[in-house]
Amino acid sequence: MPSDTPTVFVLNGPNLNLLGKRQPEIYGTETLADVERACSERAANLGLSSAFHQSNHEGEIVETIHRARDEAAAIVINPAAYTHTSVAIMDALLAFDGPIIEVHLSNVHRREEFRSHSWVSKAATGVICGLGSRGYLLALDAVADLLDREAG
Ligand code: DQA
Repeated sequence: MPSDTPTVFVLNGPNLNLLGKRQPEIYGTETLADVERACSERAANLGLSSAFHQSNHEGEIVETIHRARDEAAAIVINPAAYTHTSVAIMDALLAFDGPIIEVHLSNVHRREEFRSHSWVSKAATGVICGLGSRGYLLALDAVADLLDREAG
């Protein structure tokens, strides 16, 4: 991979480490390692490099977003439950300059009312939900397109 390949941080919030085992009827049977592999392949095909992270801790996610300011051209983020609660993650994302795509495996708008509100959406360039793990790949497609347009 050439060193000028743009890096995309793909961030995952709490409980997503249990993907594949956790409520598979909602989130599917693929593991987070499967999603990571698929993201890395799709990123390479798009001329991008993906750096995958998962954390169950809000502060760690905030600090990873701070690192993205120096290390990433774009962010794809599934903040999981922090979507609905974290002003801190929203504020960290508001301090990031590049494209931000929010992803949810499930269609959060068809579920409990509290899942319809996202703090993160207030900082996101775009939002993809309800398409399972394919949403991550579509988010990478969108990032490649947005970065191309920026370069323009
Ligand atoms: C989720 C939706 C959230 O409401 C939930 O808390 C998650 C996963 C999704 O990918 O569908 O943990 O972000």
